[in-house]
Amino acid sequence: MALSAVASTSGTQEGLKFTPGPILLLGPPGVGKGTQAQELMAAWSIPQISTGDLLRSNVSRGTALGKQAKEVMDRGELVSDDLVNQMVAERLKEPDTATGYILDGFPRTLKQADWLDQHLSAIPGSLPVVAVSIEVSYNQLLRRITGRRICSLCKTSYNIYLQPPKVDEVCDLDGTPLTRRSDDTEEVFEERMRAYTSLTAPVVEHYRALGLFAEVNGEQPVNAVTAEVMRAVLHLRS
Ligand code: AP5
Repeated sequence: MALSAVASTSGTQEGLKFTPGPILLLGPPGVGKGTQAQELMAAWSIPQISTGDLLRSNVSRGTALGKQAKEVMDRGELVSDDLVNQMVAERLKEPDTATGYILDGFPRTLKQADWLDQHLSAIPGSLPVVAVSIEVSYNQLLRRITGRRICSLCKTSYNIYLQPPKVDEVCDLDGTPLTRRSDDTEEVFEERMRAYTSLTAPVVEHYRALGLFAEVNGEQPVNAVTAEVMRAVLHLRS
C-alpha cells in the first residue's frame, strides 16, 4: 500500500478517529528512529518524544541535567535511568500526549522499560504500548552516523554519503553551515553500539515477548519504511 493510502486509512475509519496511543520506536543508533518519528508525528498529529533531543536541549541550555549528561553522551554511554525517567515523566504530563506519542530512544534499558510499564499501568484507560523495532545492517548504520550533518539553524538533517546538500557542508534551505553531532564519530558510534547490544537489545526482547511488537526493514527509502511502520502500528492496534 502506498504511504498516502496508509496515512488516509489511519485518519478516520467509519467516522471513528484512530487513536495511536504510545508508540515505541526501537533500534540502534542511526537506524532512523528520529526520521520515522517525524513522519508519524506529521501523519497522526502526535508528538515525538526523543530523549536524545531532550538531553541535547538541556546540554545546549547549560542546565544542571545537561551538565551531568554531556560527558556521558560524548563517550557514547547511557545517561542514568533515574534522570531519564524523570525527564520522560515530566514530558508525559503535557496535554499534547493525550491521544498518543512516539517515544524515540526510550526505553533503552530494562529498568527504563519497567518504569514505563508501571507508569502507564497506573494511568486509567491508558493504551498499552506498541513497539516497532527498525532493522539496519551495521555498515549502513556507520555510514548514516558518520555522514550525518545538521543545520544549526533549521535542524534539517543531511548525510554527506546518502543525502548530501547541494553545496558541501551548507544547508540548502538557509545557507547556514552544517554541524556534526559530537557523538557521531566512528569511535563514539562503536561505544554507542556496545551500549545498544548490552543494554537496549534486551528491551527489544522484552517488548517482543509482550506481543504488541513488530520488526520492519529500515534499509529502504524513508517513505517505504514509514509505510511499513504505519501498517505495523495499525495492525497491532486493530
Ligand atoms: P539519541 O539521540 O537517541 O541517539 P541514537 O539512539 O544513537 O539515535 P540517533 O539519533 O543517532 O539515530 P536515529 O535512529 O534517530 O536515526 P536518524 O533518524 O537520526 O541518543 C544520544 C545519546 O543520548 C545516547 O548515546 C545516550 O548517551 C543519551 N540517551 C538518549 N536516550 C537515552 C535514554 N533513554 N537513556 C539513557 N541515555 C540516553 O537517522 C540517522 C541518519 O540516517 C540521518 O542522517 C538520516 O537522514 C539518515 N536516514 C534515516 N533513515 C534513512 C533511510 N531510510 N535511508 C537513508 N538514510 C536514512
